[in-house]
Amino acid sequence: MDELEWENQTTITEFLLLGFGDFHELQILLFFPFLVIYVLTMTGNILIIVLVLTDQHLHTPMYLFLANLSCLEICYTSTILPRMLASFLTGNRTVPVHGCIVQFWVFGSLAASECYLLSAMSFDRYVAICKPLHYTAIMKTKVCLQLVAASWVCGFVENAILILFVFDLTFCGHNEIDHFFCDFIPIMQLSCTDTHKAQLALTFLASFCTFPAFILTIASYVYIINAIIRIPSVRGRQKAFSTCSSHLVVVSIFYGTIIIVYVLPKTEILKNLNKMFSVFYTVLTPLVNPLIYSLRNKEVKEAWKRCVMKCKSNRNIM
Ligand SMILES: *[C@@H]1O[C@H](CO)[C@@H](O)[C@H](O)[C@H]1NC(C)=O
Repeated sequence: MDELEWENQTTITEFLLLGFGDFHELQILLFFPFLVIYVLTMTGNILIIVLVLTDQHLHTPMYLFLANLSCLEICYTSTILPRMLASFLTGNRTVPVHGCIVQFWVFGSLAASECYLLSAMSFDRYVAICKPLHYTAIMKTKVCLQLVAASWVCGFVENAILILFVFDLTFCGHNEIDHFFCDFIPIMQLSCTDTHKAQLALTFLASFCTFPAFILTIASYVYIINAIIRIPSVRGRQKAFSTCSSHLVVVSIFYGTIIIVYVLPKTEILKNLNKMFSVFYTVLTPLVNPLIYSLRNKEVKEAWKRCVMKCKSNRNIM
């Protein structure tokens, strides 16, 4: 074996995450907007959790689910943004192969958990709007807790199975990933062993776990919209719709960008836009969710007002 060939066969232990290009100045420029996004995302989601847990009016399944979603999204951005910010600042773009796979595992698990939690939330809206008389009997505290726990556990177990196959792969030769985090497809492209089994595992899990959650969400909304249309008064229709519109917006953004990145065929134009859409569902969704709920949802708005009043009166007493 000559030297060149040998080099091709060397197992690599580090990947190079190319991120958003090579220019050092650009990296520094990108650091600040992403830092602001990260700080705002953390603040927004923490405020939602605090608001829901402290305001008695928001102790309903819908808002407890929302607080759980915020909790999930804090973890979700934290698997991607801190590493990205550090690499903008230091210019160090290498990641150990195992670190990369672990990042994909945690990120993938949280994304799957988010799918399940979103479908639990739409099921909650379905029961509230289509079966209002049975709502308290169906959405008991215990049931809600079970749904939340199942979302987390299923997400992590599902991806652990996938990771078993990914850890089996060896990587050699080329080590550059043209992306800003370790995602499934770029990791597969760098493997020099057969990725067939891992791809099959992904297809299997996506079709039997994630896809049904997606269908459940869609089905809930078909029933919900169908029920809302049949409400005779305009006021009643608006009132029913306002309780689920924020959630519908959140679901549409999340699934919309995921479908563009993972499901649509990879044409040249889409390939170039892929990174941008990935920024949408990894970085921007967790940022806009608390905003959507705070701006569109009447009950959350009123809870904010109560919270501000409480703070003011506390200050007056002191
Ligand atoms: C998550 O949801 C459960 C069940 O509804 C609730 O008891 C719990 O307080 C929520 N957790 C957070 C952090 O909001």
